[in-house]
Amino acid sequence: MKDDDKQDAEIPVPGDTAPHRRRPRYRGTHPRRFDQKYKEHDPGRYAATVEKVLASGRTPAGSHRPIMVAEVLEVLCPAAGETAVDATLGWGGHAEALLPRLLPGGRLVGLDCDPIELPRTEKRLRDLGFGPQVFSAHRSNFAGLPQVLAAEGLRFADCVVADLGVSSMQLDDPSRGFTMKALGPLDMRMNPRRGRPASQLIERTGVDALAALLADNADEPRAAELAAALAGHSFSTTTQLSAAVREALPRVTDDERELAVRRVFQALRIEVNDELGSLDVFLRQLPDCLRPGGRAAILTFHSGEDRRVKLAFRSGFRDGIYVRIADEVVRASPREQGANPRSRPAKLRWAVRA
Ligand SMILES: C[S@@+](CC[C@H](N)C(=O)[O-])C[C@H]1O[C@@H](n2cnc3c(N)ncnc32)[C@H](O)[C@@H]1O
Repeated sequence: MKDDDKQDAEIPVPGDTAPHRRRPRYRGTHPRRFDQKYKEHDPGRYAATVEKVLASGRTPAGSHRPIMVAEVLEVLCPAAGETAVDATLGWGGHAEALLPRLLPGGRLVGLDCDPIELPRTEKRLRDLGFGPQVFSAHRSNFAGLPQVLAAEGLRFADCVVADLGVSSMQLDDPSRGFTMKALGPLDMRMNPRRGRPASQLIERTGVDALAALLADNADEPRAAELAAALAGHSFSTTTQLSAAVREALPRVTDDERELAVRRVFQALRIEVNDELGSLDVFLRQLPDCLRPGGRAAILTFHSGEDRRVKLAFRSGFRDGIYVRIADEVVRASPREQGANPRSRPAKLRWAVRA
Protein backbone atom coordinates (compact mmCIF):
# COMPACT_ATOMS: atom_id res chain seq x y z
CA MET A 1 0.00 0.00 0.00
CA LYS A 2 1.30 3.43 -0.88
CA ASP A 3 0.72 6.07 1.73
CA ASP A 4 -0.01 9.32 -0.05
CA ASP A 5 -0.93 11.15 3.14
CA LYS A 6 2.66 11.24 4.38
CA GLN A 7 1.92 13.72 7.20
CA ASP A 8 0.04 11.24 9.32
CA ALA A 9 1.45 7.98 8.07
CA GLU A 10 3.13 7.12 11.36
CA ILE A 11 0.24 7.73 13.76
CA PRO A 12 -1.06 4.34 14.87
CA VAL A 13 -4.82 3.83 14.75
CA PRO A 14 -6.96 1.15 16.40
CA GLY A 15 -7.06 -1.93 14.18
CA ASP A 16 -3.67 -1.19 12.51
CA THR A 17 -2.15 -4.14 14.30
CA ALA A 18 -4.21 -7.23 15.03
CA PRO A 19 -3.11 -8.92 18.27
CA HIS A 20 -4.27 -12.52 18.68
CA ARG A 21 -7.75 -12.57 20.25
CA ARG A 22 -9.83 -15.41 21.65
CA ARG A 23 -12.99 -16.14 19.70
CA PRO A 24 -15.74 -13.96 21.28
CA ARG A 25 -18.27 -15.79 23.47
CA TYR A 26 -21.95 -14.98 23.09
CA ARG A 27 -25.26 -15.94 24.63
CA GLY A 28 -27.83 -18.00 22.71
CA THR A 29 -27.36 -19.82 19.41
CA HIS A 30 -26.46 -16.89 17.15
CA PRO A 31 -23.93 -14.11 17.56
CA ARG A 32 -25.54 -10.68 17.53
CA ARG A 33 -22.70 -8.22 17.87
CA PHE A 34 -20.35 -7.27 15.02
CA ASP A 35 -17.25 -8.57 16.83
CA GLN A 36 -18.96 -11.87 17.73
CA LYS A 37 -19.71 -12.79 14.10
CA TYR A 38 -16.38 -14.50 13.61
CA LYS A 39 -17.69 -16.77 10.85
CA GLU A 40 -18.86 -13.81 8.76
CA HIS A 41 -15.46 -12.18 9.28
CA ASP A 42 -13.79 -15.25 7.75
CA PRO A 43 -15.62 -16.00 4.47
CA GLY A 44 -12.77 -18.23 3.27
CA ARG A 45 -13.43 -20.72 6.08
CA TYR A 46 -17.15 -20.25 6.58
CA ALA A 47 -18.51 -19.81 3.04
CA ALA A 48 -21.85 -21.49 3.84
CA THR A 49 -22.58 -19.08 6.71
CA VAL A 50 -21.73 -16.10 4.50
CA GLU A 51 -24.03 -17.44 1.73
CA LYS A 52 -26.89 -17.75 4.24
CA VAL A 53 -26.40 -14.16 5.43
CA LEU A 54 -26.36 -12.89 1.84
CA ALA A 55 -29.46 -14.89 0.94
CA SER A 56 -31.30 -13.24 3.86
CA GLY A 57 -30.61 -9.77 2.37
CA ARG A 58 -28.02 -8.81 4.98
CA THR A 59 -24.37 -7.88 4.52
CA PRO A 60 -21.91 -10.25 6.22
CA ALA A 61 -19.98 -8.54 9.04
CA GLY A 62 -16.66 -7.11 7.90
CA SER A 63 -17.53 -7.06 4.20
CA HIS A 64 -19.37 -4.87 1.72
CA ARG A 65 -21.68 -5.72 -1.17
CA PRO A 66 -20.79 -3.62 -4.20
CA ILE A 67 -23.75 -1.75 -5.65
CA MET A 68 -24.88 -1.68 -9.31
CA VAL A 69 -21.79 -3.52 -10.53
CA ALA A 70 -23.33 -4.44 -13.90
CA GLU A 71 -24.53 -0.87 -14.46
CA VAL A 72 -21.12 0.58 -13.55
CA LEU A 73 -19.37 -1.84 -15.93
CA GLU A 74 -21.82 -0.95 -18.69
CA VAL A 75 -21.09 2.77 -18.47
CA LEU A 76 -17.34 2.43 -17.91
CA CYS A 77 -16.82 -0.17 -20.69
CA PRO A 78 -13.40 -1.22 -19.33
CA ALA A 79 -11.24 -2.88 -22.00
CA ALA A 80 -8.00 -4.87 -22.03
CA GLY A 81 -4.94 -2.62 -21.80
CA GLU A 82 -6.81 0.27 -20.19
CA THR A 83 -6.13 2.04 -16.90
CA ALA A 84 -8.95 2.35 -14.41
CA VAL A 85 -9.15 4.29 -11.15
CA ASP A 86 -11.33 3.18 -8.28
CA ALA A 87 -11.41 6.39 -6.24
CA THR A 88 -13.23 4.73 -3.31
CA LEU A 89 -11.79 1.23 -3.11
CA GLY A 90 -13.71 0.15 0.02
CA TRP A 91 -14.03 -3.65 0.05
CA GLY A 92 -12.77 -3.71 -3.54
CA GLY A 93 -16.03 -5.03 -5.00
CA HIS A 94 -16.07 -2.74 -8.03
CA ALA A 95 -12.30 -3.11 -8.43
CA GLU A 96 -12.63 -6.91 -8.41
CA ALA A 97 -15.18 -6.69 -11.25
CA LEU A 98 -13.14 -4.17 -13.26
CA LEU A 99 -9.72 -5.81 -13.00
CA PRO A 100 -10.27 -8.92 -15.17
CA ARG A 101 -11.67 -6.69 -17.93
CA LEU A 102 -8.51 -4.56 -17.98
CA LEU A 103 -6.27 -7.59 -18.55
CA PRO A 104 -4.03 -8.29 -20.28
CA GLY A 105 -2.02 -5.13 -20.33
CA GLY A 106 -4.19 -2.86 -18.16
CA ARG A 107 -4.16 -1.89 -14.52
CA LEU A 108 -6.26 -0.46 -11.72
CA VAL A 109 -5.22 2.24 -9.28
CA GLY A 110 -7.28 2.17 -6.08
CA LEU A 111 -7.62 5.00 -3.56
CA ASP A 112 -9.18 5.06 -0.12
CA CYS A 113 -8.62 7.35 2.83
CA ASP A 114 -9.29 4.64 5.45
CA PRO A 115 -6.03 3.35 6.96
CA ILE A 116 -7.82 0.50 8.77
CA GLU A 117 -9.73 -1.13 5.91
CA LEU A 118 -7.36 -0.38 3.03
CA PRO A 119 -4.64 -2.91 3.97
CA ARG A 120 -7.33 -5.62 4.35
CA THR A 121 -8.72 -4.86 0.91
CA GLU A 122 -5.27 -4.77 -0.63
CA LYS A 123 -4.59 -8.23 0.83
CA ARG A 124 -7.97 -9.53 -0.36
CA LEU A 125 -7.30 -8.41 -3.93
CA ARG A 126 -3.72 -9.70 -3.85
CA ASP A 127 -5.04 -13.07 -2.61
CA LEU A 128 -7.35 -13.10 -5.64
CA GLY A 129 -4.21 -12.95 -7.81
CA PHE A 130 -3.99 -9.24 -8.65
CA GLY A 131 -0.30 -8.44 -8.21
CA PRO A 132 1.44 -5.06 -8.02
CA GLN A 133 1.82 -4.90 -11.82
CA VAL A 134 -1.94 -4.72 -12.28
CA PHE A 135 -3.25 -3.28 -9.01
CA SER A 136 -1.91 -0.62 -6.67
CA ALA A 137 -3.55 0.70 -3.50
CA HIS A 138 -3.07 4.26 -2.28
CA ARG A 139 -4.17 5.59 1.06
CA SER A 140 -5.32 8.96 -0.17
CA ASN A 141 -8.30 11.22 -0.26
CA PHE A 142 -9.74 11.21 -3.78
CA ALA A 143 -9.28 14.98 -3.78
CA GLY A 144 -5.61 14.01 -4.32
CA LEU A 145 -6.28 11.96 -7.48
CA PRO A 146 -3.97 14.03 -9.75
CA GLN A 147 -1.07 13.48 -7.33
CA VAL A 148 -1.78 9.73 -7.14
CA LEU A 149 -1.83 9.47 -10.94
CA ALA A 150 1.45 11.41 -11.09
CA ALA A 151 3.00 9.07 -8.49
CA GLU A 152 2.00 6.15 -10.72
CA GLY A 153 3.61 7.87 -13.72
CA LEU A 154 0.20 8.35 -15.32
CA ARG A 155 -1.26 11.43 -16.94
CA PHE A 156 -4.82 10.11 -17.43
CA ALA A 157 -7.09 7.20 -16.68
CA ASP A 158 -9.48 5.58 -19.17
CA CYS A 159 -12.18 5.11 -16.58
CA VAL A 160 -12.84 6.35 -13.06
CA VAL A 161 -15.42 5.03 -10.61
CA ALA A 162 -16.36 6.67 -7.30
CA ASP A 163 -18.85 5.03 -4.96
CA LEU A 164 -19.34 7.70 -2.32
CA GLY A 165 -19.94 7.54 1.41
CA VAL A 166 -19.00 4.79 3.83
CA SER A 167 -18.61 1.06 3.34
CA SER A 168 -20.54 -1.57 5.26
CA MET A 169 -17.30 -2.52 7.05
CA GLN A 170 -17.05 1.02 8.42
CA LEU A 171 -20.76 1.43 9.08
CA ASP A 172 -21.26 -1.88 10.84
CA ASP A 173 -18.18 -1.76 13.08
CA PRO A 174 -19.30 -0.07 16.34
CA SER A 175 -15.70 0.86 17.19
CA ARG A 176 -15.69 3.31 14.26
CA GLY A 177 -18.66 5.20 15.71
CA PHE A 178 -20.72 5.45 12.49
CA THR A 179 -23.68 3.37 13.55
CA MET A 180 -26.69 4.46 15.57
CA LYS A 181 -27.49 0.79 16.13
CA ALA A 182 -24.73 -0.08 18.58
CA LEU A 183 -22.69 1.42 21.39
CA GLY A 184 -19.39 2.90 20.25
CA PRO A 185 -17.20 5.98 20.59
CA LEU A 186 -18.77 8.97 18.83
CA ASP A 187 -16.00 9.22 16.25
CA MET A 188 -17.15 8.75 12.59
CA ARG A 189 -13.79 9.52 10.98
CA MET A 190 -13.00 7.45 7.89
CA ASN A 191 -9.39 8.34 8.59
CA PRO A 192 -9.02 8.41 12.38
CA ARG A 193 -5.55 9.97 11.97
CA ARG A 194 -7.06 13.17 10.65
CA GLY A 195 -9.52 15.81 11.80
CA ARG A 196 -11.73 15.72 14.85
CA PRO A 197 -14.31 13.18 15.94
CA ALA A 198 -18.06 13.84 15.87
CA SER A 199 -18.12 14.23 19.68
CA GLN A 200 -15.83 17.30 19.42
CA LEU A 201 -17.78 18.70 16.51
CA ILE A 202 -21.04 18.78 18.50
CA GLU A 203 -19.31 20.18 21.56
CA ARG A 204 -17.63 23.01 19.66
CA THR A 205 -20.29 23.99 17.13
CA GLY A 206 -22.80 26.76 17.88
CA VAL A 207 -26.57 26.29 17.60
CA ASP A 208 -26.99 28.13 14.29
CA ALA A 209 -24.03 26.44 12.62
CA LEU A 210 -25.21 23.01 13.81
CA ALA A 211 -28.73 23.71 12.52
CA ALA A 212 -27.30 24.70 9.11
CA LEU A 213 -25.19 21.57 9.03
CA LEU A 214 -28.17 19.30 9.82
CA ALA A 215 -30.31 20.98 7.17
CA ASP A 216 -27.61 21.08 4.47
CA ASN A 217 -26.13 17.62 4.96
CA ALA A 218 -29.28 15.62 5.66
CA ASP A 219 -32.31 17.81 4.78
CA GLU A 220 -33.32 17.54 8.47
CA PRO A 221 -36.73 19.26 8.81
CA ARG A 222 -36.34 19.83 12.58
CA ALA A 223 -32.76 21.11 12.32
CA ALA A 224 -33.26 24.17 14.56
CA GLU A 225 -34.99 22.20 17.33
CA LEU A 226 -32.36 19.48 17.29
CA ALA A 227 -29.42 21.88 17.11
CA ALA A 228 -30.74 23.75 20.16
CA ALA A 229 -30.87 20.48 22.09
CA LEU A 230 -27.48 19.13 20.97
CA ALA A 231 -25.03 22.00 20.35
CA GLY A 232 -22.35 22.45 22.99
CA HIS A 233 -23.12 19.16 24.73
CA SER A 234 -20.53 16.53 25.29
CA PHE A 235 -21.61 13.09 24.08
CA SER A 236 -18.87 10.53 24.08
CA THR A 237 -20.83 7.58 22.67
CA THR A 238 -23.16 6.88 19.76
CA THR A 239 -25.93 5.75 22.09
CA GLN A 240 -25.75 8.96 24.17
CA LEU A 241 -26.26 10.96 20.98
CA SER A 242 -29.18 8.81 19.74
CA ALA A 243 -30.86 9.10 23.16
CA ALA A 244 -30.45 12.89 23.13
CA VAL A 245 -31.99 13.16 19.64
CA ARG A 246 -34.96 11.01 20.68
CA GLU A 247 -35.43 13.05 23.85
CA ALA A 248 -35.38 16.29 21.86
CA LEU A 249 -38.39 15.18 19.78
CA PRO A 250 -41.05 14.05 22.28
CA ARG A 251 -44.02 14.89 20.05
CA VAL A 252 -43.22 13.01 16.84
CA THR A 253 -44.00 9.42 15.88
CA ASP A 254 -41.51 6.66 16.66
CA ASP A 255 -40.71 6.27 12.95
CA GLU A 256 -40.05 9.99 12.53
CA ARG A 257 -37.85 9.96 15.63
CA GLU A 258 -35.73 7.10 14.27
CA LEU A 259 -35.44 8.87 10.91
CA ALA A 260 -34.23 11.98 12.74
CA VAL A 261 -31.53 9.94 14.53
CA ARG A 262 -30.45 8.53 11.17
CA ARG A 263 -30.31 12.00 9.59
CA VAL A 264 -28.32 13.47 12.50
CA PHE A 265 -25.75 10.67 12.17
CA GLN A 266 -25.55 11.19 8.41
CA ALA A 267 -25.14 14.97 8.71
CA LEU A 268 -22.38 14.67 11.32
CA ARG A 269 -20.52 12.00 9.35
CA ILE A 270 -20.55 14.17 6.22
CA GLU A 271 -19.17 17.12 8.19
CA VAL A 272 -16.57 15.18 10.17
CA ASN A 273 -15.11 13.81 6.92
CA ASP A 274 -15.64 16.98 4.86
CA GLU A 275 -17.31 14.70 2.31
CA LEU A 276 -18.87 17.47 0.23
CA GLY A 277 -15.65 19.54 0.18
CA SER A 278 -13.65 16.53 -1.09
CA LEU A 279 -16.34 15.77 -3.67
CA ASP A 280 -16.23 19.35 -4.99
CA VAL A 281 -12.45 19.16 -5.45
CA PHE A 282 -12.71 15.71 -7.07
CA LEU A 283 -15.40 16.88 -9.53
CA ARG A 284 -13.31 19.92 -10.50
CA GLN A 285 -10.23 17.78 -11.15
CA LEU A 286 -11.95 14.83 -12.78
CA PRO A 287 -11.88 16.11 -16.41
CA ASP A 288 -8.09 16.59 -16.22
CA CYS A 289 -7.68 13.03 -14.96
CA LEU A 290 -9.61 11.42 -17.84
CA ARG A 291 -8.10 10.86 -21.24
CA PRO A 292 -10.19 12.02 -24.24
CA GLY A 293 -13.01 9.50 -24.53
CA GLY A 294 -12.49 8.45 -20.89
CA ARG A 295 -15.54 7.49 -18.81
CA ALA A 296 -16.54 8.38 -15.25
CA ALA A 297 -19.24 6.75 -13.08
CA ILE A 298 -20.26 8.16 -9.71
CA LEU A 299 -22.61 6.53 -7.22
CA THR A 300 -24.23 8.87 -4.71
CA PHE A 301 -26.38 8.17 -1.66
CA HIS A 302 -28.03 11.45 -0.73
CA SER A 303 -29.31 14.60 -2.35
CA GLY A 304 -26.31 16.81 -1.44
CA GLU A 305 -23.95 14.48 -3.31
CA ASP A 306 -26.22 13.87 -6.28
CA ARG A 307 -26.89 17.57 -6.79
CA ARG A 308 -23.15 18.28 -7.00
CA VAL A 309 -22.47 15.47 -9.46
CA LYS A 310 -25.45 16.46 -11.63
CA LEU A 311 -24.39 20.12 -11.77
CA ALA A 312 -20.71 19.31 -12.45
CA PHE A 313 -21.59 16.93 -15.30
CA ARG A 314 -24.19 19.31 -16.78
CA SER A 315 -21.89 22.33 -16.74
CA GLY A 316 -19.04 20.18 -18.14
CA PHE A 317 -21.34 19.08 -20.95
CA ARG A 318 -22.38 22.67 -21.70
CA ASP A 319 -18.73 23.75 -21.81
CA GLY A 320 -17.76 20.89 -24.13
CA ILE A 321 -15.62 19.12 -21.48
CA TYR A 322 -17.86 16.06 -21.59
CA VAL A 323 -19.35 14.79 -24.86
CA ARG A 324 -22.06 12.71 -23.26
CA ILE A 325 -23.59 12.59 -19.79
CA ALA A 326 -26.38 10.62 -18.13
CA ASP A 327 -29.77 12.20 -18.91
CA GLU A 328 -31.37 10.45 -15.98
CA VAL A 329 -29.96 8.83 -12.86
CA VAL A 330 -29.61 5.06 -13.02
CA ARG A 331 -31.11 3.21 -10.03
CA ALA A 332 -30.46 -0.30 -8.72
CA SER A 333 -32.84 -2.88 -10.20
CA PRO A 334 -35.81 -3.94 -8.05
CA ARG A 335 -34.08 -7.30 -7.67
CA GLU A 336 -30.89 -5.71 -6.29
CA GLN A 337 -32.90 -3.39 -4.05
CA GLY A 338 -34.71 -6.42 -2.66
CA ALA A 339 -31.49 -8.37 -2.11
CA ASN A 340 -29.47 -5.47 -0.73
CA PRO A 341 -31.44 -2.70 1.03
CA ARG A 342 -28.31 -0.52 1.06
CA SER A 343 -28.63 -0.16 -2.72
CA ARG A 344 -32.04 1.55 -2.44
CA PRO A 345 -30.91 5.17 -2.12
CA ALA A 346 -28.06 4.79 -4.66
CA LYS A 347 -28.04 6.97 -7.79
CA LEU A 348 -25.56 6.44 -10.60
CA ARG A 349 -24.50 9.24 -12.95
CA TRP A 350 -21.91 9.00 -15.71
CA ALA A 351 -20.03 11.22 -18.14
CA VAL A 352 -17.73 10.73 -21.14
CA ARG A 353 -14.75 13.08 -21.59
CA ALA A 354 -14.57 15.03 -24.85
C1 LIG B 1 -19.23 2.86 -0.42
S1 LIG B 1 -17.59 2.49 -0.03
C2 LIG B 1 -16.94 1.87 -1.54
C3 LIG B 1 -17.21 0.43 -1.74
C4 LIG B 1 -16.54 -0.14 -2.97
N1 LIG B 1 -17.03 0.43 -4.19
C5 LIG B 1 -16.72 -1.63 -3.03
O1 LIG B 1 -17.30 -2.13 -3.99
O2 LIG B 1 -16.28 -2.31 -2.12
C6 LIG B 1 -16.86 4.04 0.05
C7 LIG B 1 -15.37 4.04 0.39
O3 LIG B 1 -14.85 5.30 0.00
C8 LIG B 1 -13.97 5.75 0.98
N2 LIG B 1 -13.99 7.21 0.89
C9 LIG B 1 -15.03 8.03 1.17
N3 LIG B 1 -14.68 9.31 0.94
C10 LIG B 1 -13.41 9.28 0.46
C11 LIG B 1 -12.50 10.29 0.02
N4 LIG B 1 -12.82 11.58 0.02
N5 LIG B 1 -11.30 9.89 -0.43
C12 LIG B 1 -10.95 8.58 -0.44
N6 LIG B 1 -11.76 7.58 -0.01
C13 LIG B 1 -12.98 7.94 0.42
C14 LIG B 1 -14.48 5.20 2.28
O4 LIG B 1 -13.43 5.09 3.20
C15 LIG B 1 -15.04 3.85 1.84
O5 LIG B 1 -14.08 2.86 1.97
